[in-house]
Amino acid sequence: MDPVRNPYAPGAGQRPPELAGRGKQLDAFDVVCERIARGRPERSVMLTGLRGVGKTVLLNQLRSAAGARGWGTGKIEARPDQELRRPLSSALHMAARAIAKTHSNSERVDDFLGILKAFALRATADKGMRERWQPGIDVPAVTGRADSGDIEIDLVELLTEAAGLAADIGVGIAIFIDEMQDLAPVDISAICGACHELSQDAAPLIVVGAGLPHLPAVLSASKSYSERLFSYHRIDRLDRESADLALIAPAEREEVKFSDEALAALYRKADGYPYFVQAYGKATWDQAPGSPITAEDVEVAAPTAEEELAVGFFGSRYERATPAEREYMRAMADLSGDEGPVATAAVATELGRKPASLSPARDGLIKKGLIYSAERGTIGFTVPHFGRYLRSVTT
Ligand SMILES: Nc1ncnc2c1ncn2[C@@H]1O[C@H](COP(=O)(O)OP(=O)(O)O)[C@@H](O)[C@H]1O
Ligand SMILES: [Mg+2]
Repeated sequence: MDPVRNPYAPGAGQRPPELAGRGKQLDAFDVVCERIARGRPERSVMLTGLRGVGKTVLLNQLRSAAGARGWGTGKIEARPDQELRRPLSSALHMAARAIAKTHSNSERVDDFLGILKAFALRATADKGMRERWQPGIDVPAVTGRADSGDIEIDLVELLTEAAGLAADIGVGIAIFIDEMQDLAPVDISAICGACHELSQDAAPLIVVGAGLPHLPAVLSASKSYSERLFSYHRIDRLDRESADLALIAPAEREEVKFSDEALAALYRKADGYPYFVQAYGKATWDQAPGSPITAEDVEVAAPTAEEELAVGFFGSRYERATPAEREYMRAMADLSGDEGPVATAAVATELGRKPASLSPARDGLIKKGLIYSAERGTIGFTVPHFGRYLRSVTT
């Protein structure tokens, strides 16, 4: 059918034509915002899951929901080797600008911006970016708060000020952090510390994070109280009904239908993973001669979808690995059967090596975000069906 009208959207962070099966998380977030606005204690929210399950698009959706309430919002995508201070100041600047629109006391807004600027100016230059960086805040810096240079102290002070500004007009601030597992340990620790302080004062500011399945382990390694500080939402595969809806609803708007067998075949292929739902949906649409889309159309289109996934979803990640890291993942793939974490000791046995000699490969893969360790002594792929993919490529 007409590829121009193809509604499906495979791609990292691509807004899906229908955000299916996330009603529970959206409702829970509504309650969190409502409670915070009323000065009730609430925990910050953490979304965790494998790659391609829809964490980024859900995070963006939650951000719109907060924005629609008049809250100030800002978003960061954490990257390894990047200091938090600079992106956080941009995110808070954006949040403050939204609040400034309705805040009647411009002096107070400017005072906050001055503190924010002083905070931002404490950022040390990034590697390879030695030129003086300007935070783009056109008020003079106000020194003495949030500018000690110790991120743990500065963050509490800064976020307390930000929350105060929001509280003036009865709203809140939500800071969204994607790929949160990539933050440096000092920054993780500072965020936990600040959330801890702010929640004790029922200050209207929350952090909403998204990350890989080991994010809870990263947080609790930093602060033991983090388990009670955050409410964790595991974002997972869609159930059959939601996966069907993700396909049917956008097609209906184009007056296209699916046969029941086509939907069953698509669910078998995509296994409920949102990225795969979009990828198979897209390829099937392009291949199908007309409505209704049949199971045969799905079969004809599947190789195209698989090829695109092999290049765009799996291959691009595989290519980032060194030969030693690839060998490590191959062993994992052979052991894992299909999904699920395996024991690191078993990988060593499989490769006939001493576990310690494999640490560089394992750590490299964790740093590259290809594998994760949520529990001591185990390791899993961050990408669903990655084991299956690796077994299908010849080395
Ligand atoms: N609830 C959903 N329903 C349908 N498609 C979704 C849903 N969530 C995500 N997707 C699709 O899945 C793909 C991956 O989403 P993304 O948010 O980038 O995942 P993650 O951040 O977990 O890696 C995108 O193509 C997106 O359109
Ligand atoms: Mg993402």
